[in-house]
Amino acid sequence: AADIANDLTTVLATEEEILAKLNEIAAQVAKDYEPDSLVLVGVLKGAVMVMADFSRALPMLVPMDWMAVSSYGAGTRSSGVVQIRKDLDTDIHDKHVLIVEDIIDSGLTLSWLLENFAARGAASVEVFALFRKPEAAKVEVHCRYVGFDIPNEFVVGYGLDYAERYRNLRDVAVLAPHVYS
Ligand code: PRP
Ligand code: MN
Ligand code: MG
Repeated sequence: AADIANDLTTVLATEEEILAKLNEIAAQVAKDYEPDSLVLVGVLKGAVMVMADFSRALPMLVPMDWMAVSSYGAGTRSSGVVQIRKDLDTDIHDKHVLIVEDIIDSGLTLSWLLENFAARGAASVEVFALFRKPEAAKVEVHCRYVGFDIPNEFVVGYGLDYAERYRNLRDVAVLAPHVYS
């Protein structure tokens, strides 16, 4: 376990900073939506941690559903091909959907999801992404709630993986290049 530290360089957000940000955004979301109007959709697997903490920061009950999509496989770069691995369990027709994501990198995953949800007849679809890499954008995605804008580096922790590793780290940090090069 001690050698995990060798795989990481800069810490971009500590657990404490993340939780403080989630509280801020939860308060804003609670103001923006009518009570009982909102459905959270988490994007598996990366958004598991942010969904768990963000949903509990909201001062109201909220239904949660999940999509599992993957565009990265085991590599560090988006393939651009989005695969559904698990669809929603619920009908979002006429619902106000807030997609909960860990990170917007190229934007390809979210732009695909936004189109997909619009086609299902959602009343509204907005995005909350804990992290965003503005320099990595290949498509513009309108994101109503953003936690942190970060540099275009490969980051792990708090749900974010490299080849399924590092998701259960509490902080978010830059992965050292020797790990993937
Ligand atoms: C990661 C991340 C986002 C997406 C962002 O998911 O969790 O969902 O990539 O990248 P993009 O903006 O370039 O599309 P990934 O496909 O690795 O699946 P995972 O959540 O299971 O790790
Ligand atoms: Mn993901
Ligand atoms: Mg991943």
